[in-house]
Amino acid sequence: MDASYTLISGPPPLADYLRLRRDSGLTPKNPEQGAGAIAGSWSACHVVDEHGTPVAMGRTIGDGGWYFHIADIATDPSHQRRGIGRRIVEWLVEDVRSRAPEGAYVTLVGDPPGQRLYRSLGFEDVAPSLGMARRT
Ligand SMILES: CC(C)(COP(=O)(O)OP(=O)(O)OC[C@H]1O[C@@H](n2cnc3c(N)ncnc32)[C@H](O)[C@@H]1OP(=O)(O)O)[C@@H](O)C(=O)NCCC(=O)NCCS
Repeated sequence: MDASYTLISGPPPLADYLRLRRDSGLTPKNPEQGAGAIAGSWSACHVVDEHGTPVAMGRTIGDGGWYFHIADIATDPSHQRRGIGRRIVEWLVEDVRSRAPEGAYVTLVGDPPGQRLYRSLGFEDVAPSLGMARRT
């Protein structure tokens, strides 16, 4: 990530959270969902460009004890492949390492665009376990 970008601790404003999800191709969320995500995260960070515009984000949901889940890793398409996503995941993992008790378990659901990146940062397939999900 070059010096024109700045990583900021904490989530982006709600409107930018919703925009970054939508523009990066993640399923769009409504303002009520976004507000809950921002308020309920254990930690979050985002990256702004030289104009102060948020261009990427990521957050961690966690119990503060041992179980943490990284979500909402998204970089605006016009700023991808510049090392920003890597910097964000590194920051989130380091934040768990430094603030949680030793031995934390950090999970994520690796969509295809991020899988190589996550592998290179030490994340491994959970097989024979299987990631499972449902909607309510
Ligand atoms: C996944 C995602 C967050 C990665 O963000 P990013 O800012 O592009 O991430 P990085 O630049 O750190 O790394 C992405 C790739 O760019 C490469 N890269 C990094 N710096 C680079 C540079 N200066 N020049 C060229 N390529 C570079 C990395 O090696 C990596 O390649 P790889 O995936 O083939 O290993 C982004 O693609 C995205 O928002 N995708 C859509 C939403 C999504 O699927 N999110 C993941 C949910 S799990």
